[in-house]
Amino acid sequence: MQPLLTSKTFGFTPKGEEIHLFTLSIPNQIEISVMNYGATWTHLLIPDRNGKMEDVVLGFDTLEGYLQKDYQDHYCYIGSTVGRIAGRITGNQFHLDGKTYELPANLDGIHLHGGMEGWDRKVWKTEPFETQNSVGVTFYYQSQDGEENYPGTIDIWVTYTLDETGRMEISYQASSDKKTILNPTNHAYFNLTGDFSKTIEEHGFFVDAENYLPMNKNSLPTGEIANVGGTPFDFRNLKTIQEPIQREHPQLQIAEGIDHCFVLKQPEDCAVLYDPESGRKLTLSTTEPGIQVYTGNYLGNNFKGKNGVTYGKRTAICLETQHFPDSCNQPDFPSILLMPEEIFESRTQFVFTAE
Ligand code: BGC
Repeated sequence: MQPLLTSKTFGFTPKGEEIHLFTLSIPNQIEISVMNYGATWTHLLIPDRNGKMEDVVLGFDTLEGYLQKDYQDHYCYIGSTVGRIAGRITGNQFHLDGKTYELPANLDGIHLHGGMEGWDRKVWKTEPFETQNSVGVTFYYQSQDGEENYPGTIDIWVTYTLDETGRMEISYQASSDKKTILNPTNHAYFNLTGDFSKTIEEHGFFVDAENYLPMNKNSLPTGEIANVGGTPFDFRNLKTIQEPIQREHPQLQIAEGIDHCFVLKQPEDCAVLYDPESGRKLTLSTTEPGIQVYTGNYLGNNFKGKNGVTYGKRTAICLETQHFPDSCNQPDFPSILLMPEEIFESRTQFVFTAE
């Protein structure tokens, strides 16, 4: 069925910028909302096995929710586009062509997910579109040379598309006027039960990864690419998150749960999240080499989300498709360099079913 596209004003920033909420939908099958503050994914309504539509991504009912200080101070990135660089960076610096770039620390002395005012806090330009078999919105932002101390002016387009089968895609295109680094992602938090007072521990999870990246005590990759065999990071068969996450394993103590990058074996259907209670299932494909899996370990009841529910530890799980974290300081990881003549492209697709 041809999907529908609607839009409305979601609110205004303190500077008076209008924020638009776009809804891409197929009746009784899927309803996705996105907004141009942070090019953020705000809502995802999908049916359970009995056809009951519920919202399964964390967020806020109003723009004010996203702007509230209690939320912003905790740098949780709910549904946001994250950039320029997803994750943490060793020593808050990197070197490029003999120059050292010092990056501002925004959380606990660490430069995380783009810095003090990352792409999650920018107002993006919008371009909604309809084709014969899809609808969508492209968000555009120009990140100036020197923003958060990164080199090069980057033009970035993030496109959310819903096709006639109900498949959703987030795609990225970018270019820079100077040699620079880039590793964006989307930071949606999923809880397929549709009830954010529950945790995601009973969800089943599969990731087609034989290897993952162990972290040091600062949640930065040690550089080792380790086999998942015999560790709690072995999700090569769909299994409940709860059992492995409760094991005594030094890697799980670092971040009080999973907050690790999995090295994908191949792009198609490379991760699955499944809620046995509702039957809702998410199947993901991506052109990226890794997925940062974050089991909501630092959500700490600090602010109220949708319907006044506070989001606590493990309320949701993030599946952040990206290049490996700290690639700018790890010569053996796939490169995140972006050259001036290059076009950066990345695509992640989400298929939602109920069984
Ligand atoms: C990171 C976490 C971080 C969270 C929220 C995740 O992508 O891996 O360490 O706490 O985002 O900012």
